[in-house]
Amino acid sequence: MPPIVDPNVIVGIDTHDDAAVYRLTDELAMVLTVDLFPPVVDDPYSYGAIAVANSLSDVYAMGAKPLAALNIIGFPAKRLSLSILEEILRGGSDKATEAGIGIVGGHSLDDEEPKYGLAVFGMVHPERVVTNATAQVGDDLILTKPLGIGIITTAIKIDHASPELIERTVAIMATLNDKASEVMLRIGINACTDITGFGLLGHLHEMVAASKVGARISLQDVPVIPETWALVNEGIAPGGTHANHDFLKGKVVWPAGFSLESQLVLCDAQTSGGLLIAVPRAKSATLLVSLREAGISEAACIGEIVEDHHCRIHVTP
Ligand code: CO
Ligand code: CO
Ligand code: CO
Repeated sequence: MPPIVDPNVIVGIDTHDDAAVYRLTDELAMVLTVDLFPPVVDDPYSYGAIAVANSLSDVYAMGAKPLAALNIIGFPAKRLSLSILEEILRGGSDKATEAGIGIVGGHSLDDEEPKYGLAVFGMVHPERVVTNATAQVGDDLILTKPLGIGIITTAIKIDHASPELIERTVAIMATLNDKASEVMLRIGINACTDITGFGLLGHLHEMVAASKVGARISLQDVPVIPETWALVNEGIAPGGTHANHDFLKGKVVWPAGFSLESQLVLCDAQTSGGLLIAVPRAKSATLLVSLREAGISEAACIGEIVEDHHCRIHVTP
């Protein structure tokens, strides 16, 4: 991509941030993001809700407020009943309503398999943009949703997940990151990103590289959906998780004897994962209490930002 020359682009592509931010006036900037993916669960209504929660997440990660969105949908109209398309869009529309925005238009095309997501338009004060590029040495790292979503959705595809586990995982994916975002803005934090396809360590790598720092993560402090462990021990993990693991070679320092399964869980590709927040240590306990008061019960402090000229992530058991 050519370099961006427009001075009103506050956040562009160079820091691999979650959304682009474009200054309209000294008081107002717009936030732009687009996301779509194929089904991660069988139930079309849940898939629609998850896709919308995921698309909106990039806006919340930037500390912004979504205003309106457009549907983007690919659908094999000759092969699948249109009632499935209706359910996907109903799930999406209900989730957008929950977020307080309208879906004001969109575009569809005939496709080999379903794909769904949103292009979202949001707003933020130009001086209150939260990026992934401003984490500071000494910050604590807070994660707001448990890991394991990629491994569990892969298990769902091969009938290795109980209805109860599916229901619980759908609820995690469909949870909006709006409250987590509101709380972090109220407390005041240094950097944020949301955890999606590159996994916890992939997105943390983007944060430390953009911020020119390193990080330390302690596995025992990372919230994980408990069933994930049995599944990954059976060899279940999506291709994206393995790709993340390969990509992070040399960027993550694993402790001696650390199992491949534990490495894969930390690299697991998430769909509509939580926010990863770098917060000054003095505010970290307040942030955690406030997140839990807002109903985000799994929020946990998983590590800290450290000095490292090579921007590596140091993992401890
Ligand atoms: Co993102
Ligand atoms: Co995105
Ligand atoms: Co069109």
